[in-house]
Amino acid sequence: MNDLEYKLSRYAEDFNLILDNFLNGLNCEPKILGESLKYSLSAGGKRIRPAMMFAAGELLHIERSCLEQYALALELIHTYSLIHDDLPEMDNDDFRRGKPSNHKVYGAGNAVLAGDGLLNTAYSILLAQCRKGGNSVSAAEFICDCAGIYGMIAGQSADLLYEADAQADEKMLGFIYANKTAKMLTAPLVVPSILADGKYYSELKLFGMNFGCLFQLTDDILDVEGDFATLGKTAGKDKKGDKCTAVKLFGLEGAKLRADMLADKCLKILNCIDGDTCFFEELVQYVLSRNS
Ligand code: IPE
Ligand code: IPE
Ligand code: MG
Ligand code: MG
Ligand code: MG
Repeated sequence: MNDLEYKLSRYAEDFNLILDNFLNGLNCEPKILGESLKYSLSAGGKRIRPAMMFAAGELLHIERSCLEQYALALELIHTYSLIHDDLPEMDNDDFRRGKPSNHKVYGAGNAVLAGDGLLNTAYSILLAQCRKGGNSVSAAEFICDCAGIYGMIAGQSADLLYEADAQADEKMLGFIYANKTAKMLTAPLVVPSILADGKYYSELKLFGMNFGCLFQLTDDILDVEGDFATLGKTAGKDKKGDKCTAVKLFGLEGAKLRADMLADKCLKILNCIDGDTCFFEELVQYVLSRNS
């Protein structure tokens, strides 16, 4: 395990304690509702968004305790997006996080409700944070915008719309990447910045958007080069669904070149930040060469 992997695993462990606390407090009726939420939330996952939020908090000297509930809300929203993404009417993926997808275990109706439940609960968590005053409302608002109809949902909508579309071009690909993925990876950086009265707001936002596009680019590359054992989800789905990806538009080598260029851009942006950005520099390299 290298230094970055160690840091990521520590952040994930810390986050999983917060998640366990949340899960232990769940008391849903009917029981199947709570079970299906728990199933997807505790199925693993890299917890990269919470890790980024905790690392950004350290960079900006924001206490971890101020970030925990935002990280929880964000991971709930992310997990809901995955449950819905896997549904037969979306990407139709039978596996997620190394286990059968939520709908394969509980059925499509319950999977829709599990996603809805996670989203609603995330909003309740964010609303509770708003009681704290200060910049808490702006921080919550930022997450909602990233996840909403001008963010992740717009990206997912475009992702569906441009399936099997010969006209899909680089501009549309940029829209899909920015919205379906990058905004949700910008939120964990910008929330701590907002709580720190906007410190490095523009730099972190710009880094998050570029890093998020890099993350989706490498996800698309792994869809071609990865395997189920390491990905924990079905490989080869994008080609089957004729998705608008960098690999479809530029070929595998063209996608890799763009990933290298995006990684360079990410590192350049980090140079504009005074302070210890070592974690994020390593994270860029990790995402560029990841196999899961
Ligand atoms: C998967 O996200 C969906 C994309 C945005 C590509 P992650 O790769 O972060 O998934 P988990 O949380 O580790 O399962
Ligand atoms: C999904 O992108 C992004 C989301 C908003 C969930 P993908 O469809 O490529 O994600 P995977 O490959 O299923 O994880
Ligand atoms: Mg998808
Ligand atoms: Mg998918
Ligand atoms: Mg994918």
